Amino acid sequence: MAIFSLSLLPARGAPFPGARHPAAPAAIILLEPAEGRATAPVMIKRPLIAVLNGPNLNMLGMRQPEVYGRATLDDVEQICIQAAERLDVAIDFRQTNGEGELVSWVQECRNRAQGIVINPAAYGHTSIALLDALLAVELPVIEVHISNIHRREDFRHHTYCSRAAAGVICGLGVRGYAMALQAMTDMILDENDR
Ligand code: DQA
Repeated sequence: MAIFSLSLLPARGAPFPGARHPAAPAAIILLEPAEGRATAPVMIKRPLIAVLNGPNLNMLGMRQPEVYGRATLDDVEQICIQAAERLDVAIDFRQTNGEGELVSWVQECRNRAQGIVINPAAYGHTSIALLDALLAVELPVIEVHISNIHRREDFRHHTYCSRAAAGVICGLGVRGYAMALQAMTDMILDENDR
């Protein structure tokens, strides 16, 4: 049986434009025979999950804390980073107030990411353009809302994004993001197992 040594390298390549952390999100694991045989290293890329956030989520922590809680967007990002480390996936965590920018980011995920976790915020309720982008990229999508949108005003009960989503997590606070990453990782691995 071959014995391999593992080394973790930062992934190369262009950073995802607009990323909160422009440093490369993924890591490459080099598998090399420990005894130095001439076999070429096997490169395994961790799956990349885009975590996209829509308008006003940059105001988390100060925005209606009785609805959204006290966690800031930085706290949410930390929750996602920790979940990603646990799950051995890479994430690209972003937020924008612009509908067009959110649509462009979804489009960029095609052929780049393996899944999308999205809190579309208010654009979920209004944007057919965002739905069309989510359908176009042909990736698994999980929609997250921090608050329970079904307990709130009628106009929040419907989201266009849900039509593109494999699942929706809402009302569980910011822990919904970690749950979405767990579920998305399972879905990606299932897909890879097929
Ligand atoms: C939200 C719910 C939306 O209705 C609202 O417009 C938001 C946040 C949530 O996370 O609970 O901005 O997506």
